[in-house]
Formats: sequence, structure tokens, C-alpha cells
Amino acid sequence: MYRFGSKAVIYWIISAASYSEKGKLSFNLQVFSLSVLRLLPPTATPIPVRAIAAAIAADQRSLMKFKRALTNNYRVVDCHLAASARFALYILVRTLHETRTDSEREQIIIPAYTCPSVVAAIVAARMRPIFCEINPSTLAFDERSLSSHLGRKTLAVICVHQFGIPHRLDTIAEQIRNAGAYLVEDAAQAMGSTVHGQAAGTVGDFGLFSFGPGKPLALAGGGAITVNSNVARDQISQVWAGITEGTRMRSLFSAFRYAALGLITQPLSWRLVHVNGPTQAAASAADDLGERLGMVPSQAAAGSLLLADLDGYNSDRRQTALRLKGILSEHKWVTIPETPQSSPDDAKPMIPIYLRLPVIVADEQRKRQLVAKLWRAGIHPGTMYGRSLDDVYPRYSTHENPAACHVASNLITLPTHHHVGHEDVEKIEQVFRSV
Ligand SMILES: Cc1ncc(COP(=O)(O)O)c(C=O)c1O
Repeated sequence: MYRFGSKAVIYWIISAASYSEKGKLSFNLQVFSLSVLRLLPPTATPIPVRAIAAAIAADQRSLMKFKRALTNNYRVVDCHLAASARFALYILVRTLHETRTDSEREQIIIPAYTCPSVVAAIVAARMRPIFCEINPSTLAFDERSLSSHLGRKTLAVICVHQFGIPHRLDTIAEQIRNAGAYLVEDAAQAMGSTVHGQAAGTVGDFGLFSFGPGKPLALAGGGAITVNSNVARDQISQVWAGITEGTRMRSLFSAFRYAALGLITQPLSWRLVHVNGPTQAAASAADDLGERLGMVPSQAAAGSLLLADLDGYNSDRRQTALRLKGILSEHKWVTIPETPQSSPDDAKPMIPIYLRLPVIVADEQRKRQLVAKLWRAGIHPGTMYGRSLDDVYPRYSTHENPAACHVASNLITLPTHHHVGHEDVEKIEQVFRSV
């Protein structure tokens, strides 16, 4: 602890010195507190004290209340809560597998560029993931590639609204249903986005939501599945009834983790945690399904309380993302995935939330420079995911998906959350001009 603290202090002093102009070394308190000590996390959600208090005071009734709030808010047939989105997805895929009428249907199509934990859920349910090429200008499926994979063996297609950018579903939903497969919308990063005028996650047969750290409504953990029609409704309810609920201790522990998340995602604390610069995420984390349990009451209580505020959080994210988009559009070597157009009359809008702003950099060398300079400017960029799913899971790779591979290695994400201020946007602008 002592060693950690002293390192932090030395780091801050060196950083403050590097901010001084023309060799004048002045320990300007404002520079110290506002610029040097801050490091913006890649994502964040407000965690108010009243939500922490609700989490600590939660009981079993909180779970039913959150389930009802989600069902009513999203106008879905049913909703089930779990310890994580990946476990919720595993239960869904397992149930669809067990209730299928055609034993040949054993494939689940997913984009070749997305979160590896989606694969972990599919494989644990003993289904085969099929990696589909993406369109780099939207991050949605490449439709030709999707058509070539869809067939009699397809059990389900998982569309991911990556970074909260909604995926057009009008034409592909029909194609998927004509093939006799289910459409699952992965809205883990997109809670609050709008797809053809409807909430993301409610257009397909099933929707997936995550409340893990870094998600639109971060509750320090938890996930949900929405059942949007009567398809497999009873079977899913039956399986869910058998899932063990969390204990009071687990719930309390999660409430403290939630408070810690609120503290740690403050820019000053984020700098302290990352005083040694970028850290390598645990390689095995995505492979692990985590706790195979239900959601804990503390997560549900905070979720019920903050659900009404989600639109406000997302509106801030969207505004910041649009400003950044405007600023960065002058650089020819940068591509920012587009939100698909709404219909001409705008009656069915496609509205992104931009949980993060994805930026695809033309060459890897420039990307590395950007990452280093953003860190120095107090901005922690996301580098998701480094590798495409074909690279992460070569044993399931059947063909090349070059666009997914390029996006995986050349993409960075910029923060859009409530801590991002005018000066931060200016710093990002300067960094992009300097490379
Ligand atoms: C697109 C996507 N789907 C699913 C998940 C799994 O969510 P959880 O961490 O709650 O299991 C994630 C997590 O990062 C994700 O980004």
C-alpha cells in the first residue's frame, strides 16, 4: 500500500512538471487537480448514494420489482434475471437447444467481431458458434455473409447492437424467421437504444441485457433476458424457476462492490488505479461463465431506482459522441461506424446511445500512437477486442472474416460518459491532430 501510494505521488509530480510550459516548473494546483490527476475511464454510469443505500437495504422483493419494471418498461411478455448476461444467454440457448424440434439445428450465428463471452455461453450450452463477417461501416452483420450461413442447421442468430449502435433488423429478421431460426438481440451494450422505433432488445424473439461494469446501466453485475413473444416462454420460465437465488451475504457483497465501482470510476480514482498505465485484462475472463446463479437483490434494487434515469445518461452519452464525431470527421484516416438511417418519415427512428464512441484507425502504428497520447492526456481509450472471434477461438473458425479482423485490431473507443467535459473533448481533438 505504501509503495503504491509513493509511486502515485511521484507519477503526479512528474506529470505536473511535464505540463509546465517553456521550462517554467510551477506547481499550479489547478493543473494538478484538474488535468494531471484525472484519468477518464472508458465507460461509466452515475452511481448515486441513494442507489447504494437501496442496494444495501434490498430484499427478495426487490427482484420481483425489477423484473416487473423491466417487463413493463420494455413492454415484453416476460423477463428473467441472472448473475450475468452470459449466464442468462447460456440458459436461453440451452433451453432453445433442449426444446428444438429438429435435432440438426445446432448452429448459432454471431458476428465475428464482438465480446468473446457470447461464445462462452454458446459453447457451454453445447451449440456450435458460427462467426459471420461484419460490415465495418456499421459493425452490423455483412448481409451476404449472413445469408450464406443461414440454413437448416441454424438454431438462432444473435444480432449485437455493438457499443449501443442499433443494428437494422427489418430485412434480416424476415430472412432469419424464414430460415426457421430464432432472432436474439444482444443489447448488453445498448440498453436504451432504439431499433425501428422500438427499444433495442425487444424486436427479436429474445433480448439480452447486461448490468456489469461498463454497461449502460452498470449495477456491478447482473444480466437479463427478455422473452418478446410466446415462443418457448413456458419452457424458459420452468428452467429459470430451478436457478438458485443469491444469498443475503452475496447481495451485501455486491452492494459493496457497487459502491466501490462508483468510487473507482471517478476520474481521480481511475488515475490512482492505473498509475502504472494500461493493464492487461485477464485473458481467461471472457471464457468463464461466472456464477451460475440468479441476480442478487442489491443489483435489482439499484436497477429499479435508476431505470428512470437511464434515458438521461444515454442522452449525455449521445451528445458527447456526436460532438466527437463532428470533430474527428476531418481526419481521412479515421472511420466512425454509422448509425443506420431511420425511415424517411422518421416514424421508426434508429437511435444510438454510444456507450462508447468506436473509431477505426486506418493503420495500426497510428492507433498505437493515439492510444499512448490519449493516455498521457488523461483519456483511457478502450481497445476492444484486439482479436476477432476467429483468432480467439480458432477451433470454431470455418472461414476468414477480414473485415472483423481489421476492426478488432484497428479500433479504439473514446469515452462518452457524464465525466467527459469540454476540456476533455478539446484534448481528444488535439491528440488526433497531433498524430
Ligand atoms: C455484447 C456483449 N454481450 C454479452 C456480454 C456479457 O455480459 P456479462 O458481462 O454481463 O456476462 C457482454 C459483456 O461485456 C457484451 O459486451
